[in-house]
Amino acid sequence: MTGRVVVVGSLNVDLALTCDTIPAPGETVLATAARRSAGGKGANQAVAAARAGGASTSIVGAVGDDPDGHYLLDQLGRAGVGTERVAVVAGQSSGLALITVDRAGENAIVVAPGANAALAIDAPDRELLHTADVVLAQLETPQQLVAEAARSRRSGVPFILNAAPAAPLTDELAREVDVLVVNEHEARSVAGTNDLDEAIQLLVARFPVLLVTLGAGGSELHRADLPVIRARALTVPVVDTTAAGDTYCGVLAAGLAAGRPVERAMPIAGAAASLTVQRSGAQDSIPTRAEVEALQP
Ligand code: ADP
Ligand code: NA
Repeated sequence: MTGRVVVVGSLNVDLALTCDTIPAPGETVLATAARRSAGGKGANQAVAAARAGGASTSIVGAVGDDPDGHYLLDQLGRAGVGTERVAVVAGQSSGLALITVDRAGENAIVVAPGANAALAIDAPDRELLHTADVVLAQLETPQQLVAEAARSRRSGVPFILNAAPAAPLTDELAREVDVLVVNEHEARSVAGTNDLDEAIQLLVARFPVLLVTLGAGGSELHRADLPVIRARALTVPVVDTTAAGDTYCGVLAAGLAAGRPVERAMPIAGAAASLTVQRSGAQDSIPTRAEVEALQP
């Protein structure tokens, strides 16, 4: 193992309903399949980092004192993610995500945060964060706590923020970010403009490293005063895009923790994310190191 990734983020049970078309407001549709599985952006990204090999991976998060919580901890443990710093919150439900997936693999998601909203950063969490070589977080847990966690890292340790679900960032959080990872929608939302090119220019001025993921269009690395670097996505049959962005972020974090430069970690993250869209589900669909290496990204 080289390096340590500490992920701060959400753990959710995903309830995925496959239907022909995602229902419009007021509409009821019949699902063709229903499945419960382990998810949550924090947990998915931690699984992706652990499966990428190289770095040891732990998560700071919270689940409810319920069967879902025990299931989520068990799934993370099986994937090799350290769960010592996942609080089991008495009297709370675990996070729950209702996901509808259509025939084309597009999805629409509603998340009930449950215990994720009760996350607190305590002294043992700060100790763990202080040992990290990369800290990785998303926005399914409160921004103020994510900022607090980021401040616990050693100086020079990269803090990667995946600004998902899309939201404007508080100054307190934004000033900690070394690497911002966003899809097109999130780029517009964080920058506060609908014009993607303008959004990218605004974000490059605010964040040292900007990675924009573009679905089947791959991803782009933007840094002020350096040429843009692009990584193509693999051409694959799309089954379910759930956890594509999460795979990208987790594998990127593992690469940086292992000492790879961002321009080398990026195509590996992209290849891993392309494998994720070929399989249904969130954590279950995240590839292993061997599967990614077979592609020689
Ligand atoms: P998110 O899941 O956060 O919306 P994207 O859709 O941009 O993020 O996907 C993240 C990464 O997953 C992309 O940069 C790409 O590497 C891979 N990916 C996503 N969709 C596809 C696709 N249809 N075909 C191949 N790779 C894909
Ligand atoms: Na998937």
